[in-house]
Amino acid sequence: MREIPKDVYRKAAGVLVSRGNAVALTGAGISVESGIPSFRGSQGMWAKYDPAEYATIGAFLLDPEKIWMMFSEMMGVLEKALPNAAHLGLAEMERMGILRSVITQNVDGLHQAAGSRRVIEYHGNPGELVCLSCWKRYPSREKIAGGIPPGCECGEILKPDVVLYGEPIPWGAREDAESEALACDVLLVIGTSAQVAPACDIPRIAKEHGAFIIEINPEETSLTRTVTDIHLPGTASAVMGRLVELLENTRKEPNLSH
Ligand code: APR
Repeated sequence: MREIPKDVYRKAAGVLVSRGNAVALTGAGISVESGIPSFRGSQGMWAKYDPAEYATIGAFLLDPEKIWMMFSEMMGVLEKALPNAAHLGLAEMERMGILRSVITQNVDGLHQAAGSRRVIEYHGNPGELVCLSCWKRYPSREKIAGGIPPGCECGEILKPDVVLYGEPIPWGAREDAESEALACDVLLVIGTSAQVAPACDIPRIAKEHGAFIIEINPEETSLTRTVTDIHLPGTASAVMGRLVELLENTRKEPNLSH
C-alpha cells in the first residue's frame, strides 16, 4: 500500500477541526485488525458461509440448528476481539468534541468497548437472544452456556438480536442514523464496501445535505469516485492513529492544518 501524502492527512484533519460536527459510518473493515474477518473478499466470512444459505431470516426459520453453526463460530471470534487504534481513535475524537456519533454496521461491540458513548447499532447486537415466537429476550452469554442452539421457555430456538437479510433495520437505529446523516458536517466512512442497503445510502444522504465525506479504506469502493471528497487509502488503525495525532497537534497549534 502506497504512503499517503502528508498534505492529504493535513487536509482531512483541517476539515475535521474547522467543521467538526462529524459522524462515523463503520463496517467490518474497521475490526479486521482486531481479528474479526470481514464479510467480502477471499478471507471473508461469506467465502465460508454463503449468505444466501446462512444469513437470511428464511434460512434461519427453515433450519435454525444449521445457522447456529455459523453464529457460534462468529460469537467465538467476537469473544476474543479487542478494540484497535481505529476504535480508540473514534472514541478520542468524541472526547475532543469533534465526533458526535458512530453508526456501525458491525455487531462486535468494539466501539463501546473502546469508549465511544453514542453508538448506533444499525444491524443490531448479539448481546441478547430473541424468541421469534413469543418475543421473550435473554442475555446471550448465560443462555448459550446452557447449550447450542439455545431454546426459549416456549420451546422455540432463539435468534441473536442481529439483522439477517430479509429483516428490517431496527426502527430506532434507522431513524437515528438518518438524522445523524442529515445533521453532520463531516462523515467519516471507515472499512465498508458500501454494498449493502440501506446502510450504503447513508454517505449519499449526508453528501446531499452538504457533508464532507472522508473515506478510510485500503481499497476503492463505489463511493470513492462518486461521493467521497478525500480517500485515505490505508488500514483503519494506521490511518485513524495518524489522523487523531494530527488533530491533537492541530488543536495545540491551530495554523498547522493549513
Ligand atoms: N482497514 C480498513 N478497511 C478495511 C481493512 C482495514 N484493515 N480491511 C478491509 N477493509 C475494507 C475492505 O476493503 C472492504 O471495503 O473493509 C471493507 C469490508 O467490506 P465488507 O466485508 O463488505 O463489510 P461491510 O461493508 O461492513 O458489510 C456490510 O454486509 O453482509 C452484510 O451484515 C453484513 O454488516 C455487513 C454488511
